Amino acid sequence: MNTCKNKHSIKRCFNRACETYDLNCHVQIQAGQFLIDKLKNYQIHYDQALDVGCGTGMITKRLLEELYCNHLLGIDFSNKLLEIAQGRLVRYNADLIEFDFDQFLCQTHQKRYDLIFSNMSLQWSDELALCIKQIYNHLSPNGIFAFSIPLQGTFFELNSIYSDQLHAYHDAFQMLSDFNVLLCEHESIVHSFDSVQSALQSIKMVGANSLSCVTNQALHGRSFLKNFFKKKYPPYSLTYHVGYFIINKLQKCLLNCL
Ligand SMILES: C[S@@+](CC[C@H](N)C(=O)[O-])C[C@H]1O[C@@H](n2cnc3c(N)ncnc32)[C@H](O)[C@@H]1O
Repeated sequence: MNTCKNKHSIKRCFNRACETYDLNCHVQIQAGQFLIDKLKNYQIHYDQALDVGCGTGMITKRLLEELYCNHLLGIDFSNKLLEIAQGRLVRYNADLIEFDFDQFLCQTHQKRYDLIFSNMSLQWSDELALCIKQIYNHLSPNGIFAFSIPLQGTFFELNSIYSDQLHAYHDAFQMLSDFNVLLCEHESIVHSFDSVQSALQSIKMVGANSLSCVTNQALHGRSFLKNFFKKKYPPYSLTYHVGYFIINKLQKCLLNCL
C-alpha cells in the first residue's frame, strides 16, 4: 500500500471542488447519515465534539441537528470548503479552524472531546493507525470516536493506483484491536454513469481526484482519461467500498477486568 500523500495536491483538489462539492457528495451524505444514525444508538448528548475533515459542513450540520453537541470544533485544511461551512454553521455553537488534521492531532491539547467524528476524511491522513491512536488520546474518559472511510475495493473499476492509497477492511479492523469497538461494518455503494467523462467528473466534483505522490497526477487530461476504465463500454460504474467504525474510550483490557 502506498501511504505517501501529497497534501498540497489534495488541498488544491478540494479547494477546486468548492462550488460542486455539495451537489455531488451523495456518497459522503449516505456514509455520514449512516454514522449519525448509528451514534443515536449509543449516546445523543455530547458536551464537546470535534469533526475531523468537516469540509463544507454538510454532515457537521446534521450532526449538530440530530445529536446534541454543546460545542463543536470543525477542522479542515481546505479554506474554500471552510468558507461554505462557516456560512452553513453560523447559527450553531461551532468553531471552525483551517488546519492540517495530522498536525492538529499530534499536538498535546488539554482539551478532551466527548465525540470525535470524521466522515470520509481520514483516508487522507499521513498514517491512519497513528491518527486513530492520537484521536483516542483526545477523547474524554467516556468519549466516542466514529468514522467512515473508503476502503480498498473503492474504484476497483479504474485502471488506477487510486486503490493503492486505501486500507483493506481487515487492516482498519486490526488498527482498532486495542480499543473497545462498538461498531465495525462495511458496504459497497455503486453509482452508474453513461460515459467515462461523467464518471470521472463525479470524483473530481467532490475533490477526491488527487492521486499519490508517486505520479503526482490528478484525474484529468485526455491521455489519462483514455485508458482509465477497465471496462470499455457503458454503463460505467464506480464502487465506493465504505467502512464504518465506532469505538469508545474504555480499553479492551479494562473491560475484561470489569
Ligand atoms: C471527502 S471530504 C469529506 C468532508 C465532510 N466530512 C463531508 O462528509 O462532507 C474530505 C475532507 O477532508 C479534508 N482533508 C483531507 N486531508 C486533510 C488534512 N490533512 N487536514 C485537514 N483536512 C483534510 C478535505 O479538505 C475535505 O474537506
